[in-house]
Amino acid sequence: PPNYSQMEGGSSLGRANCRAKGGSAGFKVAILGAAGGIGQPLAMLMKMNPLVSVLHLYDVVNTPGVTADISHMDTGAVVRGFLGQQQLEDALTGMDLVIIPAGVPRKPGMTRDDLFNINAGIVKTLCEGIAKCCPKAIVNLISNPVNSTVPIAAEVFKKAGTYDPRRLLGVTMLDVVRANTFVAEVMGLDPREVDVPVVGGHAGVTILPLLSQVKPPCSFTQKEIDYLTDRIQNGGTEVVEAKAGAGSATLSMAYAAVKFADACLRALRGDSGVVECAFVDSHVTELPFFASKVRLGRYGIEEVYPLGPLNEYERVGLEKAKKELDQSIQKGVSFVRK
Ligand code: NAD
Ligand code: LMR
Repeated sequence: PPNYSQMEGGSSLGRANCRAKGGSAGFKVAILGAAGGIGQPLAMLMKMNPLVSVLHLYDVVNTPGVTADISHMDTGAVVRGFLGQQQLEDALTGMDLVIIPAGVPRKPGMTRDDLFNINAGIVKTLCEGIAKCCPKAIVNLISNPVNSTVPIAAEVFKKAGTYDPRRLLGVTMLDVVRANTFVAEVMGLDPREVDVPVVGGHAGVTILPLLSQVKPPCSFTQKEIDYLTDRIQNGGTEVVEAKAGAGSATLSMAYAAVKFADACLRALRGDSGVVECAFVDSHVTELPFFASKVRLGRYGIEEVYPLGPLNEYERVGLEKAKKELDQSIQKGVSFVRK
């Protein structure tokens, strides 16, 4: 039987391992927090992605079981598990893309900022590992509060001398996924045909859907705009309350994370015209980080797009968003600098 103490998902006989060592086309991807509510379905979906040749699953608990389970899927990627801090460096070495859903989720009544005290330290440690072992990897950061954890990651990389703003992306894809779904519902459209830019950040009023720029062009009543803006900004809280203490969005988040990771991998492969929203190092506003549409390429972000024309409602929303974002960014930066 396979020897899971080695944490290699699959047979310990030779032939299967040749596939990974033989350098088959595809990318090496690590998931940090892979045994969690997001991590498990995310690991499953990445194992199904034909662009992935090697999948490393790292967590501080339960990775042997998750690795054994996922390794039985008859898809191309070779899966390896890594357990605990002492295996972090092995998990990260050689990776092209690192996806981070590690950290605690919200319970009803909490804001994402209430997670800062625990998750800031987790993200800092994991990013120190990335700076040391795979400084050229693209990083997709999911752990909340994203508005602060992305600045934390940037500061860690700056300290290590490895910071490349093109390679650090806060994942706000779930806001876009929700916005597409809710707009489609209201307008009677197929959600797969709807594209709503969502800019700003990833918490409450910092989540700013640009309903004036929806594709296909839609004309909303003020009532619809108020309803949609509120539902998109509070989509996370809607799930937290429905789960009633059992955590926050995991399945829709895994879906969104894979959609985003797949875009990053297609761009790394050389596909052109890959554009997604993400929370990134930015000059689009006076703030050092901001979510907007970005064009992805072989080295990560190739272009950060400006916001485009906003209506009065969106301009008011933008001012509110910037005020809160500014504080969250500062909080992340000073956590590492102090
Ligand atoms: P979870 O508690 O189910 O899973 C988190 C996992 O992280 C656990 O398996 C835990 O063992 C692991 N972990 C804890 N400390 C770690 C460390 N130091 N190194 C590696 N792994 C560690 O939580 P979840 O529901 O999967 O959510 C994870 C995070 O994602 C939360 O912070 C949540 O708020 C955030 N989230 C973000 C978005 C987004 O849109 N960006 C959406 C949903 C959730
Ligand atoms: C979400 O938007 O679902 C996540 O940020 C999790 C949360 O706490 O709401």
